[in-house]
Amino acid sequence: MKIALIGSNGQLGTDIMKYFSDMGEEMIGLTQDDIDVCYMDKCEPVLLKIKPDLILNTAAFHQVDLCEDEGLSAFDVNAVGVKNLCNISLSLNVPLMHFSTDFVFGADRKRTKPYTEDDCPGPVSLYGISKLAGEYVIKYMLKKYYLIRSSGLYGYVGSFGKGSNFVDMMIKFAKEGKKIKVVNDQVLTPTSTKDMTEKLYALIKTGNYGLYHMTNSGQCSWYDFAVEIFKIAGVAADITATTSDDYTAKAQRPAYSVLDNKNLREAGIKDFRHWKESLKDYIDTKYNS
Ligand SMILES: NC(=O)c1ccc[n+]([C@@H]2O[C@H](COP(=O)([O-])OP(=O)(O)OC[C@H]3O[C@@H](n4cnc5c(N)ncnc54)[C@H](OP(=O)(O)O)[C@@H]3O)[C@@H](O)[C@H]2O)c1
Repeated sequence: MKIALIGSNGQLGTDIMKYFSDMGEEMIGLTQDDIDVCYMDKCEPVLLKIKPDLILNTAAFHQVDLCEDEGLSAFDVNAVGVKNLCNISLSLNVPLMHFSTDFVFGADRKRTKPYTEDDCPGPVSLYGISKLAGEYVIKYMLKKYYLIRSSGLYGYVGSFGKGSNFVDMMIKFAKEGKKIKVVNDQVLTPTSTKDMTEKLYALIKTGNYGLYHMTNSGQCSWYDFAVEIFKIAGVAADITATTSDDYTAKAQRPAYSVLDNKNLREAGIKDFRHWKESLKDYIDTKYNS
């Protein structure tokens, strides 16, 4: 299968590029030097020339706080860009795989039960709203799509948009002896891009289009996540738990955004391993070996 991968140098894109190539797929990796999803005239000629069997879009404006100040840019990439790719998918009559986020949830402040794909979204930030707009555009325009929501991604190259990922950032801060404060009242499931990539491949092979939650198993607060990072990495850290009220961020975040991979199980794909197991794999490979 010939696959055009947009964002091939991002943290998810890098892992997809490698794994799918290893599985024998013909991967055409595209960075922002090759394509800009915000402008039809900068993406249509590129994709029409490649003539892929599948368009895979990891491009996003996902600096959550910056989205509050630069809402238009967030909508450009996360919604207008998606509309452009939908039009091209229709022209080529090929499916689109696109990524969304657990941040489409959060309005239910009392939630303690994982969200399935059947739950009604309710974002609490412009980032979440722009990503949800992208979701609606896909559902409205396409029949052949894989729409994947994930959360707390970390991958070997780090997030391009955010400059790093949470795991690498925590280890760096601890080694520099910084005082670290992490919120203990936002619960999610940290997810390895390496694990996700394998599930994405399995999903594509089923040909079952639709909306899918894809995260590792289990759940934790960002504080619990940080403590586990330091434990596995074997680094001493000056860490204290804080609350969302004390940690003043520009954008509001969900207090609970754990996703249940219900549709993935129903598609016959085995659930992800526990987040602690994947985290150990990541840290051992990147730092302990
Ligand atoms: N990171 C998380 O914790 C998280 C959680 C849930 C969901 N997600 C979603 O997962 C997806 C992948 O995230 P990631 O962490 O892998 O992101 P990433 O490392 O920042 O990669 C995103 C890529 O998008 C490219 N890009 C940005 N704007 C573009 C544009 N206008 N046109 C073309 N390409 C553009 C960037 O290319 P250049 O490097 O060339 O600029 C970058 O390589 C995103 O949809 C994100 O919303 C992420």
